[in-house]
Amino acid sequence: SNAFVITHGDFLTCISLHSKTTSIPIYTPENANYTSILQSTILVLGFNSSTTPKPFLILTPLEESHVQTAVICSRKHGIQIKVRSGGHDFEGLSYVSDIPFIIVDLSNLREVNVDAENKLAWVQSGATTGELYYKIAEKSNILGFPAATCTTVGIGGYISGGGYGAMFRKYGTAGDNVIDARMVDVHGRVLNRKSMGEGLFWAIRGGGGGSFGIVLSWKIRLAPVPPTVTVFRVDRFLAEGATLLVHKWQDIAHRLPKELILFLSLGVANATAKDEKTVRATFTSLFLGDAKKLKIVMKETFPELGLNNNDFIEMRWIQSILFLDNLPTNSSIDILRGRSTVKSYFKGKSDYVRQPISQTGLELIWERLLNDELAVMNLTPYGGRMSEIAESETPFPHRNGTLFKILYVAAWNEVASSEKYINRLRKMYEFMTPYVSKSPREAYVNYRDLDLGETSKNGTASYSQAKVWGTKYFKGNFDKLVYVKTKVDPDNFFRNEQSIPSIAF
Ligand code: FDA
Repeated sequence: SNAFVITHGDFLTCISLHSKTTSIPIYTPENANYTSILQSTILVLGFNSSTTPKPFLILTPLEESHVQTAVICSRKHGIQIKVRSGGHDFEGLSYVSDIPFIIVDLSNLREVNVDAENKLAWVQSGATTGELYYKIAEKSNILGFPAATCTTVGIGGYISGGGYGAMFRKYGTAGDNVIDARMVDVHGRVLNRKSMGEGLFWAIRGGGGGSFGIVLSWKIRLAPVPPTVTVFRVDRFLAEGATLLVHKWQDIAHRLPKELILFLSLGVANATAKDEKTVRATFTSLFLGDAKKLKIVMKETFPELGLNNNDFIEMRWIQSILFLDNLPTNSSIDILRGRSTVKSYFKGKSDYVRQPISQTGLELIWERLLNDELAVMNLTPYGGRMSEIAESETPFPHRNGTLFKILYVAAWNEVASSEKYINRLRKMYEFMTPYVSKSPREAYVNYRDLDLGETSKNGTASYSQAKVWGTKYFKGNFDKLVYVKTKVDPDNFFRNEQSIPSIAF
């Protein structure tokens, strides 16, 4: 419409008036690079169709002041902002909106400065976890950071939602290891920990992206790692007693030494010989120590797993990053600087489990998995450091008493199958109700799931609407998030389909 075009022009005028030094790269739909920039980090093909709402422009700031200008002008002209770091949001919240919007894409703000001597680093939000790992490894082979197993996840969204990974049983979430941050608030000011105050600094380390402002960079505490770590990955099928192994895993995985994580992935595979299907349980571990020690631990705690000497592989910590992300461990770590990712249709959902599931329960779950053949369940054990940190320490509340988290994933290749896959995943989730946490049924905010509820189209959820999903993601921390939000952004400028509401109006 005409009004829309005028807004567009006024907005650009505002941008050029406020730009102090270099001009901000801006891509309108007329620009030849608009589509490639938009699509650069869209992983979920369901949000890349001709009917997906598109931003009326994309800004790719080159410096902090560009982000300030984007906020000032968007607010002045009442335009919705979506901020994107790595674009890995499960629901595309960083680049889709039902109302006219712009994208502030931070992929040019990706500097990582490692101070190995003091075990600290500043990392900009547009960097990926892989780039962070790479920069740490360049400086030291005895330092790491407890971040994602996936190396293309963006730091901005990842830390905003807490962020877990293979070392979180030893060091807690990524958010637990942030000691300062720089962010642009609703007034376009750059704030650090001191000027933003402890309430806001608390909220941005787990309260979910998109609610409080645009975080530019994070000061993180690096984590000591030994020069040699040990990994293994083994498959066990039903015929090999997988049910008993999974049952026992539930009892021990959360009690293993903090230096050890034993991930479990459940899916469907072809049974050997016949044309039958079976359940495959994949056990994947990272141990912050040598193989000799890990062999002893596994023999004492989980002899039934039947590991062989050659299952244990020693390597440097940075190689274990490749291993856990299913990249070849003998390849150059340069691969961690790349951003190419597999794109597919996709839906994910999450659950937390606080009581072990009985063998009968597991058998019913197998039946379900075998019937559907569509979903994969990734189980991440908790315990260790995660049980020592109070639920209210950061907004990330899934702490003591959590045995493990489940991520349900369905991925497919043709749009025509979308309904089938999404419905089956939802049914699986419904089926799991008796086995998982209740009141609230907890969920991980970084596995965004709009099935849990979303705002109306103009993006202003009431407190009671938002409490429905807010309590699942944040438990008792939801009210404090609303309090902080109301204080720092009373008009609810920074918002998305599941953001923290302001109750000022
Ligand atoms: P994206 O740019 O899409 O942003 C996500 C949300 O945060 C959006 O709402 C966005 O607006 C907001 N946001 C982004 N940058 C911001 C900024 N600078 N300031 C404020 N808000 C900002 N998680 C995990 O904990 N451990 C893991 O191992 C994995 N592994 C994994 C693998 C794969 C393949 C996917 C797709 C996802 C994961 N995740 C994960 C989940 C991941 O942590 C989650 O999707 C993050 O939000 C992704 O952050 P990005 O910056 O990439 O997303």
